[in-house]
Amino acid sequence: MTVEREEQEYAAKTGRSRVLYEEALAVMPGGNSRTTTFFDPYPFYIQRGQGAHVEDADGNVRLDLNGNYTSLILGHAPPEVVKAAQEAAAHGLSFPGPTEHEIRLAELLTQRIPSVERVRFTNSGTEATMNAVRLARAFTGRPKIAKFEGAFHGTHDWVMVSVTPDPKAAGGRQRPKPIPWSAGLPPAVAKHVVVLPWNDAEADEVISFRVAPGGAQERFGARPDLTTLGKIIGGGLPVGAFGGRRDIMDFYDPRRGGARISQGGTFNANPVTMAAGVATMNALTPDAYARLDALGERLRGGVTRLLEATRRKGHVTGVGSLFCLHWTTAPITDYRSTRPKDPDAPMRVFLGLLNEGILLTQRGMGAISLAMTEEDIDRFVNALARVLARG
Ligand SMILES: Cc1ncc(COP(=O)(O)O)c(C=O)c1O
Repeated sequence: MTVEREEQEYAAKTGRSRVLYEEALAVMPGGNSRTTTFFDPYPFYIQRGQGAHVEDADGNVRLDLNGNYTSLILGHAPPEVVKAAQEAAAHGLSFPGPTEHEIRLAELLTQRIPSVERVRFTNSGTEATMNAVRLARAFTGRPKIAKFEGAFHGTHDWVMVSVTPDPKAAGGRQRPKPIPWSAGLPPAVAKHVVVLPWNDAEADEVISFRVAPGGAQERFGARPDLTTLGKIIGGGLPVGAFGGRRDIMDFYDPRRGGARISQGGTFNANPVTMAAGVATMNALTPDAYARLDALGERLRGGVTRLLEATRRKGHVTGVGSLFCLHWTTAPITDYRSTRPKDPDAPMRVFLGLLNEGILLTQRGMGAISLAMTEEDIDRFVNALARVLARG
């Protein structure tokens, strides 16, 4: 099926979302506050989420393998996290000072990630990477930063470079040219960001922290000086964190002569997020990771067998509860090798899966939650088979 046919089928199922979208257009550019979640013809409006599923404004229920872009490792509205957030909220939503919840989440993170000797909280992964870049510059005294081609690290100037560049405009494979990802970036950004091709395990913990109790750095044996975190550590509420070596993090120590780097933030480490984060971390036991790994293996195995059986040009990659579909035949070795041969393929599959009752991300990345069962994983593989069969 073409993208247009999938769009027609989607539109037929989402009439109420279309009405809401039109209302949104009157008050927001493109009806939207979050560029990454927009897709043509319009996004569906979510009414509620429970466990492994989300329900939209038209009553369509979909298996959610997007998980708010990998944040919801326990699924939607897990009772223990909702309870912790409600209890914290009942005592006050935010304060002009620290709470004990912040210490408890910091303890859990520093215990789980040995390289993170000290940590500070933010409201988003964007703020976490912004602070990590500033801190790295302050500590090394060097202005340039390196960033991997094709990697997203949020929406502050220094990382909005070469996120989805067209290889034709982006120079040689080994020495990619920095390509601004947005209007409004100052020329200094391209001058001070060195773009590298990624190859193997890149410890980028905003997403990959979910692959083991100590994150990807535990799984791949890395000990970085600084780590940025986000997504799952807030239990579904807005969050970010950055941490690392104590002597480096001391740039933020406000005692005595004052901090060398100031990090304010009205809602940093707010008690509701911190309490939800603690409840989530406590639910992530070794058994929980083993279950996520097993579901991930089942999914990747099922998709690989499907692609082989149907001779489709594709791969599935991933580790633990994370996976990504790639519509190419070439082995995946760097950003450029992930670019689909047929540029419509990711959107056709995304919309096709929506029509089959499955929510993924537009680019084909997905995340398994603990609310899922083996039957859910098989449902995804079978739905993908039907989408590919009509393409
Ligand atoms: C690797 C990475 N870094 C940073 C971010 C930005 O986090 P946030 O969306 O919380 O600002 C993301 C979000 O998807 C991410 O995947």
